[in-house]
Amino acid sequence: MQTVILNSPFDMHLHLRDDEMLKLVAPLSSKTFSGALIMPNLMPPVDAKEALLFYKQRIKKAIGDNDFAPMMTLFFKNYSKEFLEDIKDEIIAVKLYPAGITTNSDGGVEVFDTVELAPTLNAMSELNIPLSIHGESNGYVMDRETEFLPVYESLAIAFPKLKIIMEHITTKEAVDLVQKYDNLYATITAHHLTLTLDDVLGNMLKPHLFCKPIVKSYKDREALVKIATSGHPKIMFGSDSAPHLKENKEKDNAAAGIFTAPIALQILVQLFNDNNKLENLQKFVSDNACNIYGLKPNKKTITFKEKDFKIPDFYEKGTQKVVPMYAGEILKWSIEA
Ligand code: NCD
Ligand code: ZN
Repeated sequence: MQTVILNSPFDMHLHLRDDEMLKLVAPLSSKTFSGALIMPNLMPPVDAKEALLFYKQRIKKAIGDNDFAPMMTLFFKNYSKEFLEDIKDEIIAVKLYPAGITTNSDGGVEVFDTVELAPTLNAMSELNIPLSIHGESNGYVMDRETEFLPVYESLAIAFPKLKIIMEHITTKEAVDLVQKYDNLYATITAHHLTLTLDDVLGNMLKPHLFCKPIVKSYKDREALVKIATSGHPKIMFGSDSAPHLKENKEKDNAAAGIFTAPIALQILVQLFNDNNKLENLQKFVSDNACNIYGLKPNKKTITFKEKDFKIPDFYEKGTQKVVPMYAGEILKWSIEA
């Protein structure tokens, strides 16, 4: 039986939510990951130091004894340099959402004007604080990421010392762009590496596979798989695991977000193995993030065996019930206890 060992995997894009949902999902990440970059799109968003530190405390309580680093992000607004200087040591990045583009992003940026954004972005650049971006326009849903690429490009040129992370890229065009500018980097999810739009609505409608940005075409998926499995140094794994209550996914106006935290690593082992690229998985799930963000790996090692793993139909605690991607299906790799 084949075995794969990963050292200190990091999830560089994770939604942990709050309250009861946090208590359900946090242990499911902290069990297998050494740390994660925590998204700030709570209601209200995390945009002040006290709120951020308090949220971090709640996360630490929810992960229990597991050795897991919650790496906090701040919701992008125009901040003063003094404010950023003061909060700098508590955050790993500032996360920018275009206004209204996804879950809890109403307070995001309305107009992308490099002059208007300059005071905050120059301060971040001087203080070495990376900028993480949900890059979508409000145009036609399949074109939203490509329509946003000129914004990435203008920011990369206007702020050449600012590290800009293109979150959850989904298209071939984004794969091309990230390689064009030294200060652009990207995360890729497990679901964008394995799904296309056919899986979401090619047969029966699958609300648990609905997310922002929507999964794309075969050509796009191929480009994503190619760059991720190559171990390219600018590409990191970020699950964008985004749990919503089962009842909020299975209704009219279903929420966007795919829950993958407890199964993403097994999916990645299978994908890299199927592509004969297992030797690059360590880079994708840990080493590249360590280099880009300056993280220190911990001693956690996760062992995978080529043995069937049936994905649970749901994960549940108290009143909280969430359905993972591929619920009820069989993966070829399991995590060894
Ligand atoms: C995320 C969420 O639910 O918070 N949803 C999603 O579909 N990915 C927000 C986001 O990252 O877009
Ligand atoms: Zn997200």
